[in-house]
Amino acid sequence: MTTLIIGAHGQIGQQLIKVLAESGDTPRAMVRTDAQAQTVKALGAEPVIADLEDDFRQAFSGCDKVVFTAGSGAKTGPDKTILVDLWGAIKAVDVAREMGTRHFVMVSSRGAEDPEKGPAKIKHYTVCKKLADDHLLASGVPYTIFRPGRLTDDEATGNVSTAWAENPEEQWISRADVALAIAHSLKHPEVTGGQVYPLFHGASTLDEALNRR
Ligand SMILES: NC(=O)c1ccc[n+]([C@@H]2O[C@H](COP(=O)([O-])OP(=O)(O)OC[C@H]3O[C@@H](n4cnc5c(N)ncnc54)[C@H](OP(=O)(O)O)[C@@H]3O)[C@@H](O)[C@H]2O)c1
Repeated sequence: MTTLIIGAHGQIGQQLIKVLAESGDTPRAMVRTDAQAQTVKALGAEPVIADLEDDFRQAFSGCDKVVFTAGSGAKTGPDKTILVDLWGAIKAVDVAREMGTRHFVMVSSRGAEDPEKGPAKIKHYTVCKKLADDHLLASGVPYTIFRPGRLTDDEATGNVSTAWAENPEEQWISRADVALAIAHSLKHPEVTGGQVYPLFHGASTLDEALNRR
């Protein structure tokens, strides 16, 4: 059994493949094109071509863990936010429930805890992220939800903070550290399962920040 990464060709997805491959795993990487399949294969994953806007259940075959790190991105409109970030995530949770997935790690976002408090221009996005999280929380599928701040391309530090940062300027984290946090969560479901973590840059080790039950 292995881990399915949905959004595997994305920036967090590719970093996660590398981290998992370095620890000896061969994750299943759900991507959308042949060229992307070649890229993720070279990183150490087993590719499967599927699209969240179509029927993608075959991608789950043989996988007991799922990471959802897909997103339609800022360059598309709210229609794709609904179809990918919300409806795609909801469909993925439903397939996970049918398949008996043991651990579903959701890459959510800061702002999903209360879309009313965030900036109006991204409210459609934070509402979609919150509704997807709520669906996972109510699904009965074992979960971990990460709500990272603004993503940067800084190097991995291996240190994070899961304490809420009041200052929006401090609400950031590197994609590399998000990937490490996801990998840590997959490895320690007994402590990260059932948790919803804000995730920002910080000075705590992953053990200190995530194993705080
Ligand atoms: N940007 C931020 O500051 C921020 C903050 C907090 C949380 N997040 C969340 O972080 C996650 C990933 O971030 P990232 O930087 O890695 O994003 P990214 O590089 O844009 O990766 C997103 C991936 O989702 C895939 N995707 C889009 N539509 C799809 C579909 N219909 N079917 C299957 N896959 C699809 C994309 O595929 P293609 O490669 O084919 O386009 C891409 O590989 C997202 O869930 C996002 O909401 C972002």
